[in-house]
Amino acid sequence: MRYNQGKFQKEEGFAMKPRYRVTLREEERQQLDALKRGKTSAKRFLYARALLLCDAGPQGPAWTVADVAEAMGVTPRTIEHLKQRFVEDGLAAALERKQPEKPPRAENAYALICGPPIMIKFTLPVLSDLGFPPDRIITSLEMGMKCGVGICGRCNIGTEYVCRDGPVFTLEQLAGLPAEY
Ligand code: FES
Repeated sequence: MRYNQGKFQKEEGFAMKPRYRVTLREEERQQLDALKRGKTSAKRFLYARALLLCDAGPQGPAWTVADVAEAMGVTPRTIEHLKQRFVEDGLAAALERKQPEKPPRAENAYALICGPPIMIKFTLPVLSDLGFPPDRIITSLEMGMKCGVGICGRCNIGTEYVCRDGPVFTLEQLAGLPAEY
């Protein structure tokens, strides 16, 4: 299977053919490890983790694109683009993916966040900084659900059952719940 002008190819068995090989020097691994632990944006955090997992050098685990994408909750294309930026332009360029010229505007708009909990955690303050009011920032907490019909209690957060009362909540609603979601 071939798509996007041949930049990404799938071989038989649906394994994506690696096109760019990431090998990190020791100082680059340290820099990415520090980024993972310190305060940084959600995107840089994700890119740092992904590059460490992609590292095919002597220190790296050399995960496949598909495995990294699944672990990060993003598409394989995102990981391939990240590897491409690293190989062609270096570490700094890989971490600083070009932002759209105009940031999203909060007027007359809702922000919907869906993805891994760590991404949601880092994205909520960014949306608040952009001016989205808490009642117009919406996310889903369905990852903790099991039975889905209000019986097992696994999805309980404070007085709410995610399966019964959600799974979609506004940031305003989340502010009234214990911070265990
Ligand atoms: S998922 Fe079982 S009670 Fe909500």
